[in-house]
Amino acid sequence: MRAHRYPPIGAMRFGVVLTLVALLMALVTAPAPAARGAASTPGQGADLRPPGLAKQDTLRWVAPNDFRIGSAVAGGGHHEQQPYPPPFFNDEEYRRLLAAEFNSVTPENQMKWEFIHPQQNQYNFADADAIVAFAREHGQHVRGHTLLWHSQNPPWLEQGNFTPDELREILRDHILTVVGRYKGQVQQWDVANEIFDGSGNFRTQENIWLRELGPDIIADAFRWAHEADPDALLFFNDFGVEGINAKSTAYYELTQELLADGVPVHGFSAQAHLSIQFGFPGDLEANLQRFDDLGVATALTEVDVRMVLPPDGVPTDAQLARQADDYRRALQACLNVDGCRSFTIWGFTDKYSWVPVFFANEGAATVMWDDFERKPAYCALQRALAEANPGGAERYERHPAYAECAG
Ligand code: G3I
Repeated sequence: MRAHRYPPIGAMRFGVVLTLVALLMALVTAPAPAARGAASTPGQGADLRPPGLAKQDTLRWVAPNDFRIGSAVAGGGHHEQQPYPPPFFNDEEYRRLLAAEFNSVTPENQMKWEFIHPQQNQYNFADADAIVAFAREHGQHVRGHTLLWHSQNPPWLEQGNFTPDELREILRDHILTVVGRYKGQVQQWDVANEIFDGSGNFRTQENIWLRELGPDIIADAFRWAHEADPDALLFFNDFGVEGINAKSTAYYELTQELLADGVPVHGFSAQAHLSIQFGFPGDLEANLQRFDDLGVATALTEVDVRMVLPPDGVPTDAQLARQADDYRRALQACLNVDGCRSFTIWGFTDKYSWVPVFFANEGAATVMWDDFERKPAYCALQRALAEANPGGAERYERHPAYAECAG
């Protein structure tokens, strides 16, 4: 066996010195790691555009560096009762635009309990795996949705008559299994979804976890998710918390308590399901800012702006203008808060929106028509994203690629 020849001591010392110098240089020049949720000044930070992405007038292209503009990925849920095949796997134009327009994706239903854990001893990862693979291929972040919720739980869980200890172990196993499977591939998780009612009280009756295990289970869910993936940002997520009100204040106070106890809560997100029937939540930015001041990241995670459709089903120009302004104001509020670096719309085309299924006579809530043509709301987002870059406004006006919207 050939004796391993060690270099002479002198050469070793010189080699060690060289290595140390190289390491020191790397440390000195490496950019400081961004603090959790820290903002990067637009135009600085990582350029998230995948190499070779042709300069396009897409949302992800004009977005400031480090800013995630995302969409839900259509599948499961209401889609299962519609007369079309699962969009993500069958609609090529949908897939093309999902890749070209967005640098973040959220499985709309494919990671919810009823979908991913249909039987106690059976997981169904196929659709979530495909979405995560798609995101990896297209340089997109993934928002995991959701681990602890009162809705879309499978019958075996809701009707299982489990003891509290059994339920606790079921939740722990689910979180460790699902978050663990996507470790390093899902950057943000909605750990606890919609846990408070409009008065800021826990939804104890509807939520099996709160009802059977008490509110302390929330801290455990965050701890288990952090154990499974220490790098994922762990969020609260809810609707009706865009403004400063009893519900958002309940999250604010709970976040303070959990942070004080060392629980790994990293973010608070507002779903921002808006409607032009109601006023825009003008204190959205202030609300996000107060969570930012706690040191947690914020995000808008399910943005859409619905409307009551006229009898002919075609929105008026005034309705579309108000919708565009609401989208713009919501995005601008996020862009104005350092730690809000993620803005996701709950589906980008009216073709697959949940709104008409849920709300009779309402719809047109997204930024593209059924045929993927852009709506004024799309252009409002594009301009706000472009203007968030240094010199963005001028560049936006000048670039022919934006002609469709710039007009
Ligand atoms: O499970 C029932 C089934 O028993 C019944 O036969 C069938 C027909 O009525 O309905 C099934 O329920 C469907 C449910 O998904 C579960 O699959 C509903 O019809 C369907 O409308 C529902 O849609 C999803 C909804 O969450 C469920 O709450 C939507 O696709 C999805 O976009 C929506 O997303 C939620 C977020 O996760 C959380 N924030 C609110 C947002 C909008 O509700």
